[in-house]
Amino acid sequence: MKVIICENYDELSQKAFEVMKEVVTSKENPVLGLATGSSPIGLYKCMIKDHQENGTDYSKVTTFNLDEYVGLERNHSQTYYTFMHENLFEGIEIPEENVHLPLGNGDLEQNCADYEKAMEDYVVDIQLLGIGSNGHIGFNEPGTSFDSLTHVVELKESTRKDNARFFDPLGEEVPTHACTMGIATIMKSRKVLVVANGLNKQDAVYNMVCGPVTEDCPASILQNHPDVTLIVDRAAGKRF
Ligand code: F6R
Repeated sequence: MKVIICENYDELSQKAFEVMKEVVTSKENPVLGLATGSSPIGLYKCMIKDHQENGTDYSKVTTFNLDEYVGLERNHSQTYYTFMHENLFEGIEIPEENVHLPLGNGDLEQNCADYEKAMEDYVVDIQLLGIGSNGHIGFNEPGTSFDSLTHVVELKESTRKDNARFFDPLGEEVPTHACTMGIATIMKSRKVLVVANGLNKQDAVYNMVCGPVTEDCPASILQNHPDVTLIVDRAAGKRF
């Protein structure tokens, strides 16, 4: 695993952007696995700026997002569908038919099976991940099988608490469930890029790289992936 420790979040975002751009510009039809949350926002800003200033083309890019909350209407302000459109897709002018996110409404089991099936026609060239303070990747919480495919999960209280900052101002509760790519789904990607910043990530990041490979820390499975780059700021990398 390649570990890059940056001085701050801006540098982390810039480095992550360089890794992402290399994939986007070197493939004819790049397939990107994407994440939501705070960690990739700086990277997404760099991608938008680069598209606007340098004309990097996203018309042939296909994307698959990691996860989606269960039970929110697609256009709810806190769905990952909305997040991705506001924070990336509109800014890089990617065709709507090229973007994919799990559907958190209707027949969830069928939606998950359909998502996994849709992904079978592609190989993800680069999978971007954040990491939860409990070591989750996607919404694969501690204890999730390393063999898991796209599935419905019950979110841990710690994860709901971490994400309450987005729902509290709306007077709403964080959903209790989500649909997520499984760990086996994530491991199929050619390359993995993990970004993490802030002191609250230091233990998760350390366990991911230096701890035992165990389902208690889902991110630790990445030690078995042949091409992982982890980019952290000083705070998240404090224990190295
Ligand atoms: C988001 C996702 C989650 C986040 C993780 C970190 O699509 O899959 O695993 O990456 O919860 O979230 P932030 O970046 O908000 O700290």
